[in-house]
Amino acid sequence: MNLEALAINAAKEAGQLLAAMQDSINPREKAPKDLVTEADVASQKKILGIIAEVRPNDYFLGEEDLTDESDLPGLDRTVGSSTDLSELEYCWVIDPLDGTANYVHKLQTYSVSIALLSYGKPIVAAVYDPVMDDCYSASLGEGARVNGKPLKNSGVDELARSLIAASFSAGVERGSAEVDRWVEMLYECQALRRLGSAALNLCYVAQGGLDGYWATSVKIWDIAAGVLIVREAGGTITSMDGQPLKIQEAKFIAAATEKLHKQMFDVLNRP
Ligand code: IPD
Ligand code: CA
Ligand code: CA
Repeated sequence: MNLEALAINAAKEAGQLLAAMQDSINPREKAPKDLVTEADVASQKKILGIIAEVRPNDYFLGEEDLTDESDLPGLDRTVGSSTDLSELEYCWVIDPLDGTANYVHKLQTYSVSIALLSYGKPIVAAVYDPVMDDCYSASLGEGARVNGKPLKNSGVDELARSLIAASFSAGVERGSAEVDRWVEMLYECQALRRLGSAALNLCYVAQGGLDGYWATSVKIWDIAAGVLIVREAGGTITSMDGQPLKIQEAKFIAAATEKLHKQMFDVLNRP
């Protein structure tokens, strides 16, 4: 099985598990307003089981802490988010459920996100939406797909005609710079959305449903797969200051075109 097929298979198996568990989850707050469920953990265990079996030397970085599950394959090769991924030849970066708040509330936008990074750069990606049964995927230099069909972004290059999305952290503070950026963008774009799954937002930029997306408070597992999918669909993605993206910092502007990216950059960096 090639690596993209392996990522797709794991994402779909985990996504189907999430869908099956939705009526029996046990939500709790791991931090104020930051939800986690038994399904997040079950999904990550499923993904690790599938990938570790066929990739016995690769490392894993997942959002959930599975250290209590001592018999789990791959657990001995699990690294923490402070590990310098640029030193690892192969590391799978996993968000077993992106959009937990939507999932808990039974709102449809949630996904499973899996990326393979080589020396810190995404080379394979899969994001699965179990509600729509859509699987977005990409391999470095080989384009991006949804359910096997090539993806192309919208090509929109004017902010006033753009549908843009943003993400916030779980606990946004009154008067924070994140809120100021949201308000500035609201004035300038055609319409602004907060959908609840960072991984799917990036897939929508790749697919053309969204024209741009930015975030300053997400984590590497939210975006590692989506970054490759955006790039392979012809989109532009940089860090917030316009420099090459540092994926472990996960602060970025993504856009369908370079022209739109420049306009988003100007709005989001207003003093
Ligand atoms: C969250 C989602 C959301 C973003 C949050 C993330 P989770 O991930 O991606 O869109 O606004 O910052 O934490 O917690 O549902 O995996
Ligand atoms: Ca997430
Ligand atoms: Ca998650």
